Amino acid sequence: MKNRLIALLFALVPCVALGAASGYELDEANIDLTDKASLQDGARTFVNYCMGCHSAQYQRYERVATDLGIPEELMLENMVFTGALIGDHMENGMRPVDAKVWFGTAPPDLTMVSRVRGEDWLYTYMRTFYEDPTRPLGANNKVFPNVGMPNVLAELQGDQVIGCKPMPVLEDGKPVRDTLTGDTVQEEQCDVLTVVPETGTQSEEEFDETVRNLVAFLAYSADPIKLERHRIGIYVLLYLAFLFIFAYLLKREYWRDVH
Ligand code: HEC
Repeated sequence: MKNRLIALLFALVPCVALGAASGYELDEANIDLTDKASLQDGARTFVNYCMGCHSAQYQRYERVATDLGIPEELMLENMVFTGALIGDHMENGMRPVDAKVWFGTAPPDLTMVSRVRGEDWLYTYMRTFYEDPTRPLGANNKVFPNVGMPNVLAELQGDQVIGCKPMPVLEDGKPVRDTLTGDTVQEEQCDVLTVVPETGTQSEEEFDETVRNLVAFLAYSADPIKLERHRIGIYVLLYLAFLFIFAYLLKREYWRDVH
């Protein structure tokens, strides 16, 4: 019993370590898996900005094309850059040994990452890279401190820096107002992320949307039949409900003579 308990404790260690990686508050991703346009946009961002380093090797291009409603020719023309065939897995050409030398860690496969990290974590992660000259690739991250990955979406988001700036003081999530003037009370806070204006090609809202769509694609990819399962699940429950009525009537019929 004691041994089992110790084994269980050890099994839980990775969960604790993962959860406690940083105390940064996560933003909600609010993705919509039924929105095909959002998933298509996410797939486009993924193949353009992530597959240089990461693979999604448990996913096939063909499956993505079918599920997301992308015609096969369009998929091959615009989304497959590795010379792969439509039925191939979404692998990339980088050898893990090279990657280890370049980044210190091999970029992990991302097919299942949304199940491991969670959607909110991914959404926050992709939006909280900031400039940090002390890091080998010039970037650090709020939810993944000292990450080995460069800030690959910087051209869209712009240069994000960390520093001090006056922020409204909040109480229960609402800004505190000065009782005399009615102005919101400001207080200098440090460790705040700000994007340098005019350095990215997207506005803050557009960038959040791009990342939301990307996370939606990763969530879809980790569980491609989720919607299908829910749809079938409803039929199954309806069927069971009907079956219950008939089974009940039948039971009454049988027991009528017994009582
Ligand atoms: C230039 C190569 C490169 C590109 C391009 C890149 N990444 Fe990464 N990524 C890495 C490396 C290297 C790591 C491992 C970092 C570490 O463990 O310190 C990583 C780690 C990650 C992780 C953390 C995985 C985990 O659970 O530990 C996620 C999530 C991720 N990348 C998502 C993305 C997404 C989404 C894109 C596209 C927008 C992308 N990456 C593009 C190199 C890259």
